[in-house]
Amino acid sequence: MVLVCKTGGAGDDERWKSELRRLMPDLEIRDWPDTGDPADVEFVLLFASAPGLFDGMTGLRAVLSAGAGVDGFVGDLPEGVPAARLVDPWMQTAMAAWVVHAVLHFSRNMPAYAAQQARGVWRERFEEHFEPRRVGILGCGEIGRRTGRALADLGFRVAGWTRTPRDLGELENLHGAAGLNALLDASEFLVCLLPLTPETDGLLDAGRLARLPEGAFFVNASRGRIVVQKDLLAALDSGRLGGAWLDVADPEPLPPGDPLWRHPGVWITPHVAGVTNPVTGAALVAENIRRARAGEPLTDPVDRNRGY
Ligand code: NAP
Ligand code: GLV
Repeated sequence: MVLVCKTGGAGDDERWKSELRRLMPDLEIRDWPDTGDPADVEFVLLFASAPGLFDGMTGLRAVLSAGAGVDGFVGDLPEGVPAARLVDPWMQTAMAAWVVHAVLHFSRNMPAYAAQQARGVWRERFEEHFEPRRVGILGCGEIGRRTGRALADLGFRVAGWTRTPRDLGELENLHGAAGLNALLDASEFLVCLLPLTPETDGLLDAGRLARLPEGAFFVNASRGRIVVQKDLLAALDSGRLGGAWLDVADPEPLPPGDPLWRHPGVWITPHVAGVTNPVTGAALVAENIRRARAGEPLTDPVDRNRGY
C-alpha cells in the first residue's frame, strides 16, 4: 500500500509520516517527487498540486487533502478518483480563536489603546455600543459555523452567508446574491471564511466593499484572492474601512514592498490562523484510507464541480 506525500508545509512532514506509519504500519510512504513507479501509488496526501503529479497513477484509489481548502489541487484531480478535505475539529477551534482575536482587537479599540500606550496616555475610550454588534461571515461551513458560535457566545449578532440555504441554529443564514448584499449592508465586522473557487475568486471588489457600513472592519482567514487587494487598500486609504486583519494574501508571501505591510490600519499574520495538526489529521486520513480500501465512501468528500 503506497502513499505519496506532498503536504508542502500543511503540517510538519516528518510528523505526518510518523503518525501515519504508527496508525498504518503496512503503509509505504514515498516523498514527492521520488514516487518510484507511479502505477504502485494508491493514495496521494497533498496541499497543492504540481505539473504531472498524477501522471501514470493508474491504481490511484483516493486523493487526501492535508488542509481544509482544496483550491491547490481540485482542478488537477484525475477523473473518477474520489478526494476528501481535511475536516478537523482541532483546526476549526484554532481558526475560531484566531478570528475571535481579530474581531475583538477592533471591537475593543485595541489599535487606539496601542497608540495611546506608545505615548504613555491613560485615557478610557467609552465603547458606546449597547446593542449587539453585527458580524457577517462569508462562508459558513465547518469553520464558519464554529467561529460564528464563538462570536455569538461573546455577544455578537452573527449572520453567515452560504451558497445554499442552511439551518445555522442561533446564527442567521443568508444565501445567494441577494443574501450577500443584505449581509454586506449590515456587517460592522466582515469575516471571510469562503473556499477559493471560480465563483469566489475576486468576489470582494470595490463595489461590494463599498456596501459595508462606514468604518467597518475586514478579517480574512481563507484565501487572499477572494478580495481584490487593490480595492481593499483603496477602501482602507479612504477610511471607508476602519481596518483589516489578514492571515492570507495574494500572492503569498506578500511581497516586502506591498503597501499593506505598512498600512496603519492593517494587521498581518503569515497564513497561520488554522495550521494543520498532523496528529489529529493523520487519524482522519487513516480513516479515509481504510474506507477507500474497503470500497466505502470517503468522509468529507470534495465536489470537483463546486470546487470545494
Ligand atoms: P466548508 O465546510 O466547505 O465551508 C465552505 C462554506 O462556504 C460553505 O458554507 C459554503 O456554502 C460556502 N460557499 C462556498 N462557495 C460559496 C459561494 N459561491 N457563495 C456563497 N457561499 C459559498 O469549508 P471550511 O472547512 O469551513 O473551510 C473554509 C476555508 O477556510 C477553506 O476553503 C480554506 O480556504 C480556509 N482555511 C484557511 C486556513 C488558514 O490557516 N488561514 C485554515 C483552514 C482553512 P454551502 O454551505 O452552501 O456549501
Ligand atoms: C489552510 O489554509 C487550509 O486550507 O487548511
